[in-house]
Amino acid sequence: MSVLASGRARASAHPNIALIKYWGKASDSELNEPAVSSLSLTLDELRSETCVAFDESLKSDELWLNGKRDEQKLARISANLDKLRRIAGIDTRCRVETSNNFPTAAGLASSASGFAALVAAGNAALGLGLDLKQQSMLARAMSGSAARSLYGGFAKIYLPDAEPAQTHFGSAYAEQVAEAEHWPLEVCVAIVSEDEKKIGSTEGMERSRLSSPYYQAWLSGNDVDVVQAEKLVLARDFEQLAELSEFSCLKMHAMAMASRPGLLYWSGATVDAMHCVRELRAGGVPVFFTNDAGPQLKAICAPGYGAKVADALAELHGVKRVLRCALGPGARVEALD
Ligand code: PMV
Repeated sequence: MSVLASGRARASAHPNIALIKYWGKASDSELNEPAVSSLSLTLDELRSETCVAFDESLKSDELWLNGKRDEQKLARISANLDKLRRIAGIDTRCRVETSNNFPTAAGLASSASGFAALVAAGNAALGLGLDLKQQSMLARAMSGSAARSLYGGFAKIYLPDAEPAQTHFGSAYAEQVAEAEHWPLEVCVAIVSEDEKKIGSTEGMERSRLSSPYYQAWLSGNDVDVVQAEKLVLARDFEQLAELSEFSCLKMHAMAMASRPGLLYWSGATVDAMHCVRELRAGGVPVFFTNDAGPQLKAICAPGYGAKVADALAELHGVKRVLRCALGPGARVEALD
């Protein structure tokens, strides 16, 4: 720990939604290197806030999630705190208090925002002095998509060739493609279930790798998709981004569904919401859908169309509520109480 560091810090971060999906790990090492490139946008209104306190008097790590002690998720948090401790060269145990203002582990990327906030808080608490690239590498080692939540607006993880691994961090990192202000898209999240997902992304990715006949085809396409999506974001080309992003989402799910046993993250309401979005688009509303390892449907709208899309989704039977979001900032350290 740096002599100036207090061992305590608070940070916040927002979930991100991938327009070009990450699904698959390069190896099963604890560096958690992705096998594919990805590109995302960071949301504003949804938020994780994490406080860490490294404390010599603690005998073991503690996790408090949304105000309650959580023993189930503690092992994963402890393993990731070890990564911070290794960099700092300490063995001190830590109390982590984290809360989300949206459903946890329900396909809304709470692990992305949660681990991005943990890295930002740990970096500040221990005085590690990691720059954003290093923080994104560390976040990636905790949860692949968390690397992108370090940045606001649009972010990508691009994997052209394997870069030599850096000590502690591995090689893949995220970088910003554009600030939120570059293209203030709106996002409507149709919540169709608040239950925690039954098959987490790590287990799902491994099952896809081992059994989906389409896995190799999936791996081969993403670099091209990310290069193209980045150009479309920079050019603010909504129509072509809509087509490409729905392609990436459906391609990922088709490959995952063909695993054995098949991974079926959608509910009937998810599919109804997809049709609703496509009907709106056919009627001239600039909107497209995407969906992750859970049933919620995310509708990405051109600036100014969020209200119209949210109203249409809210009318669907099976949609419990619709959250409206703008694009948001990256992870940041907050003042302690
Ligand atoms: O970062 P993980 O391990 O939670 O995996 C994220 C996987 C998807 O959300 C389905 C896609 C993505 O790129 O965010």
